[in-house]
Amino acid sequence: MALQFLRRGKLVRVEHFAPDTMLLDYLRLTERSRGTKEGCNEGDCGACTVVLGEVRQGRMHYRAVNACILFLGQIHGKELITVEDLAVGGKLHPVQQAMVDLHASQCGFCTPGFVMSLFALGHAKQAVSREDVTTALAGNLCRCTGYRPIIDAGLKACASLRDKFHEDEQKAVAALAGLSAMDLLVADGADFFAAPASASALAAMAARHPQARIVSGATDVGLWVTKLLRPQRQIIYTGRAADFAQLHDTPSALFIDGGATYEDAAAALGALAPDLGAVMQRLGSTQVRNSGTIGGNIANGSPIGDMPPMLIALDARLELRQGSETRHMPLEQFFIDYGKQDRKPGELVWRLEVPKLRANQHFKAFKVTKRFDEDISALLGAFRFDIEGGIITAARIAFGGMAATPKRALKTEAALTGKSLEAALDVVLDDYAPISDMRASAAYRSETAQALLKKALLELAGEKNTRVIAA
Ligand SMILES: Cc1cc2nc3c(=O)[nH]c(=O)nc-3n(C[C@H](O)[C@H](O)[C@H](O)COP(=O)(O)OP(=O)(O)OC[C@H]3O[C@@H](n4cnc5c(N)ncnc54)[C@H](O)[C@@H]3O)c2cc1C
Ligand code: FES
Ligand code: FES
Repeated sequence: MALQFLRRGKLVRVEHFAPDTMLLDYLRLTERSRGTKEGCNEGDCGACTVVLGEVRQGRMHYRAVNACILFLGQIHGKELITVEDLAVGGKLHPVQQAMVDLHASQCGFCTPGFVMSLFALGHAKQAVSREDVTTALAGNLCRCTGYRPIIDAGLKACASLRDKFHEDEQKAVAALAGLSAMDLLVADGADFFAAPASASALAAMAARHPQARIVSGATDVGLWVTKLLRPQRQIIYTGRAADFAQLHDTPSALFIDGGATYEDAAAALGALAPDLGAVMQRLGSTQVRNSGTIGGNIANGSPIGDMPPMLIALDARLELRQGSETRHMPLEQFFIDYGKQDRKPGELVWRLEVPKLRANQHFKAFKVTKRFDEDISALLGAFRFDIEGGIITAARIAFGGMAATPKRALKTEAALTGKSLEAALDVVLDDYAPISDMRASAAYRSETAQALLKKALLELAGEKNTRVIAA
């Protein structure tokens, strides 16, 4: 069995590769396509941005990803587009031409990454706003040109982009169609990269190889290879199983499969609770949200992951699956201690059930970081209040960054229950004993957490000028 992907109109087969080969290394060292740059090698700068094309409902769907933290095996069954592929017969692609015309490049090191992010945006949307462009570029750093000309180039080029990829779309769909049903297993002795093509094959594979590393978006695991230099010899990739990346909307709850990316789930979660959507908009960058999954954010057990506190405040339930066995638990019970989760080897974070808010339930969430975009939370507060006639009848509060796990504020919840919104302002949040680290001091965390509670209550009470800066 060989890795196969579409490149420049042809299917490429790679028979042998180390399971932890990163796509960027393959491009630069094996294929010798050096237009794609290596900057940070940890998903932060966007210099390595490439575009992956996938068939969805008979059309090509293009998304920008960071090649530095993407395993080569993850591109099986997809089209790979790099900056070298855009110009035709010496004529620059409209995005490249706009970058030239608007003086949007100086040293040029970041430019291929910007071009690829804008290429993906232009293919995703026909009429783009300034906000669309800045969102698409939040994961691309430029240290010499300045962003105004780059944004202007994006606005110009993406206004109504047409290129050869539009013309060749059905050829790409046809070329990839033959690969869609196949499981991938590339093995060398005990080493392997596996990408099962269905959810059931994935569950069986993970149960058979409980020692293997589960990889979803690789936005965490990729860095273990590039930064911690920890080899990954046996990888089971979840992202090939299309039926493991679905959303199921019911009147009472939204069900999200473990393999759904942030991008897949953002609109539905934003519709469920606007603050949830607003925080997700600031999670990583477009490239990170295109690859990273909510399942991975839960499974990694990080005390500063953005999704768990919000999902806990919403009373989400988790389904885990090992082989054909499933079990369910309230999400908060999954996080036992720092680095310790209630997950057995070979067990997958399978599905989440997120209850919808009832008419009297209100949800607020605030992420506190040093930078607005693409920054890990110093702390994140999430609040769900049931309110009847101005009285809080139930409260669920969860914080990230305040303890060794994402954790509820049970004492504070009890103290708030039965109080009017006004009286609730006097309640002191004292459930946590946070630590000081490079993101924030313990004192800052405690003071800010209290302020976030107050902000949530004031916003609910209709107070507009809260004077609490939490953005
Ligand atoms: C530049 C950058 C910015 C980031 N910004 C943020 C941010 O703002 N907020 C935030 O919370 N995180 C952030 N992250 C971290 C990361 O993107 C998230 O934690 C992401 O959700 C991880 O998901 P993934 O699919 O990439 O996981 P992976 O890297 O594929 O896996 C992470 C862990 O989960 C396990 N795993 C993955 N899927 C499953 C599954 N279905 N079942 C069982 N185990 C599984 C893996 O074995 C591994 O232990 C950032 C990362 C980068 C590189
Ligand atoms: S090299 Fe910086 S994001 Fe990949
Ligand atoms: S042009 Fe030099 S880093 Fe952007």
